[in-house]
Amino acid sequence: MLNKIEQLLDEVRTLTASNAQELEALRIKYLSKKGCISDLMNDFRNVPSEQKRELGMRINALKQEATEHINALRAKLATKEDTETVYDLTRTPYPAEIGTRHPLTIVRNRIIDIFSRMGFTLADGPEVEDDWHVYGSMNFADDHPARDMQDTFYVQGAPSMLLRSHTSSVQSRVMETTQPPIRVICPGRVYRNEAVSARAHCFFHQVEGLYVDEQVSFTDLKQVLLTFARELFGTETQIRLRPSYFPFTEPSAEMDVSCQICHGEGCSLCKGTGWLEILGCGMVHPRVLELNGIDSEKYKGFAFGMGIERIANLLYRVKDLRLFSENDVRFLDEFKAAY
Ligand code: PHE
Repeated sequence: MLNKIEQLLDEVRTLTASNAQELEALRIKYLSKKGCISDLMNDFRNVPSEQKRELGMRINALKQEATEHINALRAKLATKEDTETVYDLTRTPYPAEIGTRHPLTIVRNRIIDIFSRMGFTLADGPEVEDDWHVYGSMNFADDHPARDMQDTFYVQGAPSMLLRSHTSSVQSRVMETTQPPIRVICPGRVYRNEAVSARAHCFFHQVEGLYVDEQVSFTDLKQVLLTFARELFGTETQIRLRPSYFPFTEPSAEMDVSCQICHGEGCSLCKGTGWLEILGCGMVHPRVLELNGIDSEKYKGFAFGMGIERIANLLYRVKDLRLFSENDVRFLDEFKAAY
């Protein structure tokens, strides 16, 4: 019997199981009521009493070692199964969420695209500007109301520094460093001191354009803007130029496009007029050319400027301007298809 115990002990110490079924087979073979250790216990009854103590201890040690070893195998298998379920390579993947472009970026890119096909290049400038580039060089009189604190955000402690209220400042920066021919568009963010509501915000985005060369006429301005309007809103679009006033252009005009909804019949979008205002424009005032170092005898120019939010509203009918700056993904997701 002693030999049998030693032999089983050797066996038990080297047991292995690669899955739950093999493990269960081992448990039955060694530890169940019909297992070989139970058999030993049955035989134990016939052992002469002087050997009982010694053999009894050894059988118990064998049983304990077998139990511990099989439990250890079970724990090892469980952790193996855990790691296997984490890496289920057969599972279908989670769909990747693709972001969207912001509607203002979409519209800005379309505007840039149209003008670049007409030969305009991009120009950029600072949002925190000096009074000269925003107003002085643009022929604003010292007491012009647009300089008033109500419209312009000034930098505290630096009275001649401000947040630009239009991107004409970039036109000024281009003219002071470049001689004609000049053909640029300037997209960018601008700031005005307005109470924030569904229809106004204290910042918005503009694209302004400047064309300076010899023999530039109002006809050139009109044709460029007509081409732009038809590219953006469709080939049937009509434009209308109404006389207006800006300190930096003379003559000045405001441009309307025929209403996208009623095509001139009159509806609620165009308030019954059949027309929608989209931009300001005009021939660059000779004083502005001179103030920026360009010979106004030799050169003429035209300029125009539009709000990107306004155009985006006409294209997508966004009722509340604040949606453009809240970055609510439910709003942004609506532009997934609008590239
Ligand atoms: N700077 C004007 C504005 O901000 C727009 C404009 C640009 C008008 C160029 C005429 C010519 O409203």
